[in-house]
Amino acid sequence: MTHFPQTFPATRLRRLRQSPWVRSLVGENTLTPADLIWSVFVHDGEGRVPVDSLPGVDRLSVDEAAKAAVRARELGIPAIALFPYIGPEGKDETGSGALDPDGLVPRTLRAMKDAAPEVGLITDIALDAYTSHGHDGLLDDDGTIPNDATTEKLVQQALAHAAAGADVVAPSDMMDGRIGAIRQAFEDEGFTNMMILAYAAKYASGFYGPYRDAIGSSASLKGDKKTYQQDPANSDEALREVAMDLAEGADMVMVKPGLPYLDIVHRVSSTFGVPTVAYQVSGEYAQIKAAAQNGWIDGDRVMMESLMCFKRAGASGIITYFAEEAAVKLG
Ligand code: PBG
Repeated sequence: MTHFPQTFPATRLRRLRQSPWVRSLVGENTLTPADLIWSVFVHDGEGRVPVDSLPGVDRLSVDEAAKAAVRARELGIPAIALFPYIGPEGKDETGSGALDPDGLVPRTLRAMKDAAPEVGLITDIALDAYTSHGHDGLLDDDGTIPNDATTEKLVQQALAHAAAGADVVAPSDMMDGRIGAIRQAFEDEGFTNMMILAYAAKYASGFYGPYRDAIGSSASLKGDKKTYQQDPANSDEALREVAMDLAEGADMVMVKPGLPYLDIVHRVSSTFGVPTVAYQVSGEYAQIKAAAQNGWIDGDRVMMESLMCFKRAGASGIITYFAEEAAVKLG
């Protein structure tokens, strides 16, 4: 931006704010449904089951998820990010359900691709929904999460999703080197067009609370995820994570959580100039919904404002539980 003296009264910045037409003419950013990625929970049962900690969000059956794909297409939402709820009976120590080529996620992918092939499908690569201990990786007896052994599992999970029709895999586990390992496996297995959206800068955050309820992992989580997710105090480290994930073969990178980490979104997008996706996580959504339900804020207005803020910070896409509601409003 060029700097030049702006003095009063030659300059009155309010001139450009005086009416809707001029405000829209000089608006620096726009928000459209094409900016949104809809995060959707799926379960193996029937119909829709509300998630208590996320008002307005349901877990969808495979059939309902297929309908959601059609809905996304109608609303101009380009992509859906899928997250599975796995009941206690589907969990074990090693998260073996994550590798099942006919598991809930692969079956949902096939049904959604049948219903609306134009909608991009993004899957979460991590073991947390499937492990009895709730960690994103394997858990050794000494309480540590082994990096390379976990990565081997993640590679299998990513291949199962690719074979079932995912367009993008999004590793959210934060193991070192997993982007390179997944990319290599995709090349070896002929999935050369598979996209990887790396959760590059994912922080160990309290804002994931409602999500862990939604996927059924909060009761079981042993300890915390601080040995693999980033420290909220750090910013330079996020750039190192992004640089490595890009070098290993990521097509897009993600910053997560969203609003409290907008400085990271801005640093990443301005430093690397690569598609940078921000994740407005469950706790952010729940805060807005809860305050709106109490009449303390105008929920619609804050929803739209929060989404625009991501655009202003440089996000090229926003994963959000508000996607459907916001796309309806954006018309
Ligand atoms: C983990 C994963 C998490 C989220 C997406 N993928 C939670 C975690 O790391 O514990 C959180 C999303 C949200 O809070 O909306 N695989």
